Amino acid sequence: MIENLNDFVKLLSQGVYVIGVTDGTHENAFTAAWVMQVSFNPPLLALSINPAYYSYQLLQKGEAFSVNVLGDHQYTTAAHFGNSSADKMKGYAWQKDTTGAPILSDALAYFDCKVRDTTPAGDHIIVIGEIISIGKLNPGKPLLYQQTDTMDNSKDLYA
Ligand SMILES: Cc1cc2nc3c(=O)[nH]c(=O)nc-3n(C[C@H](O)[C@H](O)[C@H](O)COP(=O)(O)O)c2cc1C
Repeated sequence: MIENLNDFVKLLSQGVYVIGVTDGTHENAFTAAWVMQVSFNPPLLALSINPAYYSYQLLQKGEAFSVNVLGDHQYTTAAHFGNSSADKMKGYAWQKDTTGAPILSDALAYFDCKVRDTTPAGDHIIVIGEIISIGKLNPGKPLLYQQTDTMDNSKDLYA
């Protein structure tokens, strides 16, 4: 293992997002930092997800996801959706756009995406989604991954 790798990857500038998923019946969402734009035409976003997550089952079935941009005051929201549970939407106001994936009403903005492709990447799966719809919800500046410090316990995840 490369020493102190976690400290170095924390220097990569990344935002913090809540990814909403649904199988058409159940909704869930999880916090993600590994999200990026990957194409202009068509407009594509990619995210990297651990396939062991409950959220991945819903994403696979629903073939869609929402990317909710968190504001720099939404640290507790990032922590809440960073925990594993099938019941995380409870207590959070949410809405739907085209795909039906849950959108957090308190987010700064959202992207509603349909899955276009998936590709394995080590212990994660890269999911590429086409942006079907977008919306601005609240004013503010985005939360950055560096600001979440040890919230994701990533230091312990390198073998
Ligand atoms: C700040 C932060 C960033 C995270 N980024 C990712 C990510 O990009 N990809 C991922 O698979 N998990 C990421 N996680 C972990 C998931 O949010 C976490 O494991 C969550 O419990 C999964 O939800 P589920 O088990 O209810 O589906 C992150 C967690 C935090 C706190």
